[in-house]
Amino acid sequence: MTDQDKDRVVIFDTTLRDGEQSPGATMTHAEKLEIAGLLDEMGVDIIEAGFPIASEGDFNAVSEIAKAAQTSVICGLARANLQDIDRCWEAIKHARRPRIHTFIGTSPLHRAIPDLTQDEMAGRIHDTVTHARNLCDNVQWSPMDATRTEWDYLCRTVEIAIKAGATTINIPDTVGYTAPVESADLIRGLIETVPGADEVVFATHCHNDLGMATANSLAAVAGGARQIECTINGLGERAGNTALEEVVMAMKVRGDIMPWYTGVDTTKIMNLSRRVAAVSGFNVQFNKAIVGKNAFAHESGIHQDGMLKNAETFEIMRPEDVGLSETNIVMGKHSGRAALRSKLKDQGYELADNQLNDVFVRFKALADRKKEVYDDDLIALVTAGDESETNHLVIKSLSVSCGTGGPAEATLVMAIDGVEATATQKGDGPVDATFKAVRELHPNQARLSLYQVHAVTEGTDAQATVTVRLEEDGRIATGQSADTDTVVASAKAYVHALNRLLVRRGKTGNDQTEISYKDVS
Ligand code: KIV
Ligand code: ZN
Repeated sequence: MTDQDKDRVVIFDTTLRDGEQSPGATMTHAEKLEIAGLLDEMGVDIIEAGFPIASEGDFNAVSEIAKAAQTSVICGLARANLQDIDRCWEAIKHARRPRIHTFIGTSPLHRAIPDLTQDEMAGRIHDTVTHARNLCDNVQWSPMDATRTEWDYLCRTVEIAIKAGATTINIPDTVGYTAPVESADLIRGLIETVPGADEVVFATHCHNDLGMATANSLAAVAGGARQIECTINGLGERAGNTALEEVVMAMKVRGDIMPWYTGVDTTKIMNLSRRVAAVSGFNVQFNKAIVGKNAFAHESGIHQDGMLKNAETFEIMRPEDVGLSETNIVMGKHSGRAALRSKLKDQGYELADNQLNDVFVRFKALADRKKEVYDDDLIALVTAGDESETNHLVIKSLSVSCGTGGPAEATLVMAIDGVEATATQKGDGPVDATFKAVRELHPNQARLSLYQVHAVTEGTDAQATVTVRLEEDGRIATGQSADTDTVVASAKAYVHALNRLLVRRGKTGNDQTEISYKDVS
């Protein structure tokens, strides 16, 4: 190992597994493939593509990602049983560089669930890691809830996993409980104590319940970890996982005190952040580090003055380093397809011809209505998608009347599998009336679990991006749409989500198999 290699930190992205597991963040098969392709291009070392035994859909996604990946290692998750591990291997075995990741909860609370004694669990770890290693020469093992596991037992289990052939030992802070000093000490202590520790890579996997995931991950690296597990935008269960963009940029910007580096092409960060936000329906908060809309905005007079004189006055990294180009007025109604293609390419979107045609039609419609079309407007057109993509339900027209005097009224014409029907409904505001009209034409029991409106740019003619999340019989579908008319965007987003629910209902009976991480038998 050269001196330089010892400072190289492996980036393990789990957006498609731990991130997608976050309630409501479910992605379609095509979206998972797209995100995996972008991660691979960005130089992420390892992509945890899913949990193959969880469902037919997860298996197929992991398997296709494995076949398509060019450079990244493709990893699948498996609980500590032979069936999970075999299924995982089936899904990843065609990858150029496959990895099996198997885990078991080692803390007292987690041991109690399968009701295993310490000795029984030790035997299970030995048998499952050995089995995984017989299938694949790249095996990662995780003691789930490591940060609340008794020290002696943690050392014992890590030693067993190493002896059984694990090549990476991941130390998860499953409930976001640790703090930086403890995180560093834990990894350092394991490396110093466990026999064989110097033969494997130690990884850190932090959750953000106390807002310390990034700090804890970097502290773990200071303690000797050389793999960080993270997700784009910090997507993940509860308060999320460590954000990839934060740890990668922290090491890049503060190399003076954190002398470690990664293989990530940071100029691709913004594009991935936008795509993950769009497909998961989890918008990025405006003041989110690195990828928030305001992360590089300087509004106050003092800041603007300083920035004009010398950008370094208030800027510790350049917007270009994360793939952000300046927002300016770019396109008008006379702009053509080639200009649109090139403008989108500047923003990191390379569209296939049919996608470009679809966006071009919507761009022209927007340019007719909106005086100034900004980069952010174009991005919204690309990311919001087309509500008619599955063609079951298509909005044909919508008119709404509302005022201060009484309920709003919406008249909606919608095609249902090609047959047009009209409904008029009153409601508590125009959106409520519109959603009722949709439900009259397409009766359904789906529960609206999220309705979110986001102005893409400033001004009263700004486009609104609307996100709608629906839940029905354990299935979750997210729809998005953008329009200068908030009610139209809402209707389209609602119909987009309904179309996705219909696809899931029809296509995949077992796509929704509830599978518990606690069930290790
Ligand atoms: O948070 C966690 O413990 C996990 C494991 C499955 C590694 O995600
Ligand atoms: Zn996790």
